[in-house]
Amino acid sequence: MEQFGLSGPTKEQVEFFQDAPFFRRRIIFAHRDLDVIIDAIRSGREYAVLTGIKPTGDYHMGTFQTVKEFVYFQRKSPQAIAVFSIADIEAWEDNGISFEESKKIAISNVSDLLAAGLDLERAYIYFQSKEIRVHELAALAARGITLATMRAVYGERHMGLYLSALVQIGDILLPQHPDLGGPKPTLVPVGIDQDPHLRLTRDVASKLKPKWGFVEPASTYHLIIRSLLGDKKMSKRDPMSYISLRDDESLVRKKILNAFTGGRETAQLQRELGGEPWKCVVYEIAKFHLYADKDEELEKIYRECVAGERLCGECKMQILEDLIEEMKEHERRRIEVLPTARQIVERAWNRQPLYTASSGGA
Ligand code: TRP
Ligand code: SF4
Repeated sequence: MEQFGLSGPTKEQVEFFQDAPFFRRRIIFAHRDLDVIIDAIRSGREYAVLTGIKPTGDYHMGTFQTVKEFVYFQRKSPQAIAVFSIADIEAWEDNGISFEESKKIAISNVSDLLAAGLDLERAYIYFQSKEIRVHELAALAARGITLATMRAVYGERHMGLYLSALVQIGDILLPQHPDLGGPKPTLVPVGIDQDPHLRLTRDVASKLKPKWGFVEPASTYHLIIRSLLGDKKMSKRDPMSYISLRDDESLVRKKILNAFTGGRETAQLQRELGGEPWKCVVYEIAKFHLYADKDEELEKIYRECVAGERLCGECKMQILEDLIEEMKEHERRRIEVLPTARQIVERAWNRQPLYTASSGGA
C-alpha cells in the first residue's frame, strides 16, 4: 500500500459508510481519493460509480462482491449515476470468449445486477465492444502511453491484453465523456488486482486534465475472496473452488461440506485449542455475504470458534442453511427481473441510447 500510495479507510470514512457491511468488516481495506466521493455525497453533488466485469460465466461469490459495492455506491446518493461495463473485449482477449457468447452470459450477469437492487433510472449498462465513446476515450488515452509503460505495468503480453487495458481506461473515463455530462468525480469499486488499471487511468486523466478537465478517478479495493479449497483465488477451471450464483442447493451443499476450514485434526483438539476462523473459507463466505444486518451473529461464530465451543460440522450446517436461504431470496428477485435483463442486454447489444429505464439521462 505504501509503495503504490494506497490508503486504508480512516475511522471517519468507515463511520460514514457504516451502513455497508463491507466497510464495517474491513473487506474494503484500501482506497484512493475516497474523500472526494464522500464530499460529493455530503454536498449532494453529482458523481459516478463505475465498474466492469468480464462476462466469462455466471457470477460467483467474488464477482458478486463487486456487484454489491457498485449498487451500494449508487444507492448511497440520489445524485449518483451508475455505469457498468460488460467487458466483452477483455473476455475475448483474455479468455477467448466470443462476443456472441458474452452476450448470452451477460443476461444472467445483468439479472444479478438488477436483483442486487440497481436503480435502472440512473444506470447505464453497455458492452465494451459496442460503446463507441469508450473507443474514443481509449484512443485519446493511447497517444500518451508508450510500450515501455505497458510492459512495466502488465509485463510482456499479447496486443489483445494491452488493447483491453486501453479499453478499460476508456471504461473508467466514460462517465466523464461529454455525452454523459462531462467531468465529474468517479468511484471505481474493484478487487485489489485491478489497481494497475487505476494507476494508469489516473496518470492519463491528469495528463489530459488541462485540455479535457478530467477528474482522476477514485477507487475502493476489496479483499479477494479465497477459493473454497483454501488456495489463494477461485479458479474458473475448478468449479469446486467457488460457489456460483446459479449453483443449485445440492451443489452448494456439496461444495460447502467439502470446503477448507480453520478446524483442527480432531474434535477433541478443536475443543482444546479452538479453531482458526481467519484461515476458514466457510467463515469468509459468511463475512462477505451473510448477516448483513447482524454483525453480532458473525462475531459470535468467530468467538465460539476461537474458544473451541463450536465444531466445524455444526458450524458449516448453520452457515450453509443461511447461505441457501440468502441465495433463494436473491433467486426469487432475479427471476422477476429476468425479462428486464434480457431487454437491457438486447438494447446494449444494439447500441441503444444512454440510460436504460427512462429516455433523458445525463
Ligand atoms: N479488468 C476487469 C476484470 O478483470 C474488468 C473491467 C473491465 C473493469 N473494465 C473495467 C473493472 C472498468 C473496473 C473498471 O474483471
Ligand atoms: Fe470455520 Fe466454523 Fe470450523 Fe471455525 S468452527 S473453523 S468458523 S467452520
